[in-house]
Amino acid sequence: MKTDITDMLGIKYPVIMAPMFLVTNAQMVIEALKADITAAIPALNFRSDSEFRNAISEIKNHSPKPFGVNLIVNKSNYKLKKQLSTCLEMNVGFIITSLGNPEDVISQCKPMGIKVFCDVINSSQAIKVEKLGADAVIAVNSMAGGHTGIIPQKKLVSQLLECVKIPVISAGGISRKDKVEEAINIGAQAVSVGTLFIASNEASVNDNYKNALVEYGAEDIILTRNISGTPLTVINTPYMQKIGNKKSMYSNIINRNSWLKKYFRMIFMLVGIRSLENAANQPTYKTVWVAGPSIEDIHEIKSVKEIVDSLVK
Ligand SMILES: Cc1cc2nc3c(=O)[nH]c(=O)nc-3n(C[C@H](O)[C@H](O)[C@H](O)COP(=O)(O)O)c2cc1C
Repeated sequence: MKTDITDMLGIKYPVIMAPMFLVTNAQMVIEALKADITAAIPALNFRSDSEFRNAISEIKNHSPKPFGVNLIVNKSNYKLKKQLSTCLEMNVGFIITSLGNPEDVISQCKPMGIKVFCDVINSSQAIKVEKLGADAVIAVNSMAGGHTGIIPQKKLVSQLLECVKIPVISAGGISRKDKVEEAINIGAQAVSVGTLFIASNEASVNDNYKNALVEYGAEDIILTRNISGTPLTVINTPYMQKIGNKKSMYSNIINRNSWLKKYFRMIFMLVGIRSLENAANQPTYKTVWVAGPSIEDIHEIKSVKEIVDSLVK
C-alpha cells in the first residue's frame, strides 16, 4: 500500500483518520499514529488556544510521526488567524482546509514546509487549490459524512485525476478493507475515514451517540441544512424528523439578502455548533448526531486500533 501520500507523510498505510468536530481528540490521534496511519484533529474542537497547544504537545510527546490539524477557512471561523499561527509555531505535519478559500493558509504553510491538503467537491475547486499550491486534494464524495459532497467516489476521483497533478485523497463511504483497496485501485493515493471512528472507545462523544451508529443503518442518514446552513449528514432521529430537513423560513429570507446572509451565516453556524455540542456531550431529546452512510458497516464499538486493522489488515 505504498503511495505518494505514504511517501509524503512517512506512514505505513494510506489512511487518514478524518478530522471530526467534537469527536476527534488527542488520544484518537495518538492511537492512529501507533497503528501506522495518520490523523487530523479540528482546531475548532478546542475552546482556547492553550487547550489547542496542550493537545498538540500531548500528541507530539507520544509520537514523532506527522499528524494534521483541520482549519475551517470560511468567514464563520473568527479564530482562524490564531489557529493558523499556533499550527505554524508548533510545526504540525499537515493542515486540512475546509469550507472556504485556503490561499492564506497555503501561502503561510509553504515556507515552513507544512503540507496543505484541501477538501474539494469538484474539479473547479481542485484546479483552483492546485494553482494556489496545495500539496493534495481531498475528494469529498457523495457518501461522505459531515458536510458531504455531491459526486460519487469513482466519478469524482477520475475527474480530479484528469485535471490535477497533485495526489488525490478519497473521502466518503470508506468502511472496510475492500473499499480502501477500491479507492487506491481507481487512483486515489490515500483515503480519509471519518464516521467509522466515531464508534471508537476513544472518541469524545457520549455512548448514546456511539450506540446509535451501531443501531441505525445507511437508510437512516439524511441531509439537513438546519444545523449549520450547509448540507450536513445526520441520523434521522425523532428530533430530526420533528425539525425537518428543509431550509427554514428564516434562512430563506436571509439567503435572499446578501448583507443579512453574511452576518447570519456566522450566527447560524454558532447556533448549529451549540446544538451539536449538546447532543455529542450529553443525552438530550434534541439529538443531532452527525454521521455518514458508512454506519451501515458499524456493528460494534471498537478501539481505534481494531478499526484501523479492519481497514488495512
Ligand atoms: C461527525 C463528523 C464530524 C465532522 N467534522 C468535520 C470537521 O470538523 N471538519 C472537516 O473538515 N470535516 C469534518 N467532517 C468530515 C470528515 O472530515 C470526512 O470528510 C468524512 O467523515 C469522510 O466521510 P466518512 O464519514 O464516510 O468516512 C466530519 C464528519 C463527521 C462524520
